[in-house]
Amino acid sequence: MGARIIDGKAIAAEIRQELKQQVEEMRDRHGVVPGLVTILVGQNPASVSYVTAKQKTAHELGFYSVQEDLPEDVSEEELLSMVDRYNNDPKIHGILVQLPLPKHINEKKVLNAINPDKDVDCFHPVNIGRLVIGGEEVRFLPCTPAGIQELIIRSGFETSGAEVVVVGRSNIVGKPIAIMLLQKGKGANATVTVVHTGTKDIPSHCRRADILIVAAGVPEFVKGDWIKPGACVIDVGVNRVGEKKSEKTGRMVPILKGDVEFETAKEVAGAITPVPGGVGPMTITMLMRNTVRAAEYTIKG
Ligand code: GUN
Repeated sequence: MGARIIDGKAIAAEIRQELKQQVEEMRDRHGVVPGLVTILVGQNPASVSYVTAKQKTAHELGFYSVQEDLPEDVSEEELLSMVDRYNNDPKIHGILVQLPLPKHINEKKVLNAINPDKDVDCFHPVNIGRLVIGGEEVRFLPCTPAGIQELIIRSGFETSGAEVVVVGRSNIVGKPIAIMLLQKGKGANATVTVVHTGTKDIPSHCRRADILIVAAGVPEFVKGDWIKPGACVIDVGVNRVGEKKSEKTGRMVPILKGDVEFETAKEVAGAITPVPGGVGPMTITMLMRNTVRAAEYTIKG
């Protein structure tokens, strides 16, 4: 029997509809419109396309949104001064500096300069600290892990008491999703194992997982026979393995593979996210949710 395909596109659209309503209510009741600035340095094609998608979504949800395009050779000082300007702009609730930054700019210094209450990426050490403490302390959730958690909840899998195995220990996905799922509360309360390049027998850990989250950064790393029958498999990988001609447009488009060998995994798993169309569409939606939350905090204090 084949696995149920978890439709990230449809779930993301559902959440965006909910957010759109919240934005309207906030505007009508409190006169507050969520404001997001995205700052892009240089013209890296992948970054341009991410930022364009973020701006488009912000616009669709009725946000006040600003796009800042800075030249590749902008100085660190100028970038920091722009961040500071938006830290002090009451119309802006969320600041996103698109990564990667050019080599002459200290990425950490820039990210740490963002006011933590406007840090909608949830990269600032203050927000990671809040995430580790959990409960009322948490203001934002990092976007990709938040998307993963929503996919698990909305596709009907119980996390409480579940064995979760996370493959990969990055600061952006592996570590934060592990922390989120071990907290007390809805969509969490799981027993979490994180496996990584230092783990002795990765397949044996994966085979215990009721929920398997794979963010290894290696195409088709996890095979079907590493999966427990009926498990929920979340594939975070997006690997460009070649190019093909699009049937729709005739243009060359990248061939994408996840970190899970989809063809064998779908025969064993209970449900699985596809690549593309699984976790990817959720990430931008969670950025929008963080921006709405940032605006809400300015009302509630
Ligand atoms: N570059 C690739 N992904 C991201 C992201 O989630 N946030 C930022 N700021 N830059 C990125």
